[in-house]
Amino acid sequence: MKIVVAGTGYVGLVTAVCLSEIGHNVTCVDVNEEKINMLNEGKSPIFEPGLEELMTKNKERLTYTLDYKKAYRDADVIFIGVGTPEKKDGSANLTYVYQVAKEIANNVEKDTIVVVKSTVPIGTNKKIEKHLKENLKNNVKIEVVSNPEFLSQGTAVRDTLHAQRIVIGVTSKRAETVMRQVYDGFNQEYLITDRESAEMVKYASNDFLALKISYINEIANLCEIVGANIQDVTKGMGMDKRIGNKFLNAGIGYGGSCFPKDTKALSWLANYNDYEIKTIKAAIEVNENQKLKLIKKSRKYYESLEGLNVAVLGLTFKPNTDDLREAPSLDNIPILIEERAKIKAYDPIGENNFKKTYPKEAITYCKNVKETIKDADICFIFTEWDDIKNFDITLYKKLMRTPIILDGRNCYDLNEIKKEKVIYESIGRKTINNLK
Ligand code: UGA
Repeated sequence: MKIVVAGTGYVGLVTAVCLSEIGHNVTCVDVNEEKINMLNEGKSPIFEPGLEELMTKNKERLTYTLDYKKAYRDADVIFIGVGTPEKKDGSANLTYVYQVAKEIANNVEKDTIVVVKSTVPIGTNKKIEKHLKENLKNNVKIEVVSNPEFLSQGTAVRDTLHAQRIVIGVTSKRAETVMRQVYDGFNQEYLITDRESAEMVKYASNDFLALKISYINEIANLCEIVGANIQDVTKGMGMDKRIGNKFLNAGIGYGGSCFPKDTKALSWLANYNDYEIKTIKAAIEVNENQKLKLIKKSRKYYESLEGLNVAVLGLTFKPNTDDLREAPSLDNIPILIEERAKIKAYDPIGENNFKKTYPKEAITYCKNVKETIKDADICFIFTEWDDIKNFDITLYKKLMRTPIILDGRNCYDLNEIKKEKVIYESIGRKTINNLK
């Protein structure tokens, strides 16, 4: 079976590499020459643990090319894994998906299954099929299958190879059979449904998780007010199997390329159909406020941060990725810059991407936590990287000028922090003030 994957971002590349791992020959197509050159040198253009190793292991079965015409011509299955970024009005931008569809239509010379992996609004698969059929240059059969992706950045390879589900939206038995052949070897549970339901599974799943996070963040905010501890609360909640203990970590809001975009897209879609999806709208609003929670907390200690040494730990939207999209750091750093704080920042992987927006003149980038917090008047923690979580907490007092730590990811054990001569504020837990 000849499989082609269009797009070498998180979804496309990880899918391609994992399919090669179970024995398929896969051709990856991208329009970005720089990316294709990197891939041909055996390097991954995205930071994703385990990906480069699998690329090397399966290099005989992987081809990377700019030549989409040749790739699509005789493909049995073509995956579309290109981006669907957010438009200004919150809807999904489908330009890249339709571009690929057009190129497929112009070039296929045999019956082909086109699999849409990109996250697309409900109804799009059907429209893509129509678009393909209208633009076909040759007399071939083409079918569009919806096969949403559920991988998370940072654990994408594991999530794909050991996914909890494979959701397939089809209109024919033939397409279902081909898709089962594609995934034979993954050994996972299938949901075979119509295309609209498959598309909705993706949005409903992401938006439910976003809602869960916003819900727990609100409970955390309330915990702070009434003196409860969010971690004990979520532990207690998670003991109920109906609720589960996953995705209940309170923090300074969700970021990334998926939850913010997919909540807005579903809300847009609902509006477009004259329906107001109130729960998702609330989740979005809560998240926007939550992202600025640490700055608000800082006002208790400093009216303004002007001229102060401010340490920032973590820039990416979560650990184990270099992705900054919708990261809380992007909402907070501009405020710090505007207030003319002297910012030192550290992120194990995200520094280079961050520098593209905030060059060295605005921020001093440091090589580790120690260097960052040295002489600081306040420290903000935005991402729970391992070396931030495992940092020796006794050093805050020793190194900072004023040891005020505002932890947006509940990195430290309150019982340990209590022993330190610091001010420590986290999310949904009591404030420790040992500087009084
Ligand atoms: C998310 C979903 O988890 C994947 O299932 C989905 O396939 C993917 O979107 C996608 O649509 O492509 P991802 O954005 O990589 O994956 O990251 P998550 O691990 O879900 O984290 C998203 C955000 O939620 C992060 O900012 C994280 O810090 C935050 N989060 C997560 C919390 O604040 N609390 C939690 O308990 C969990």
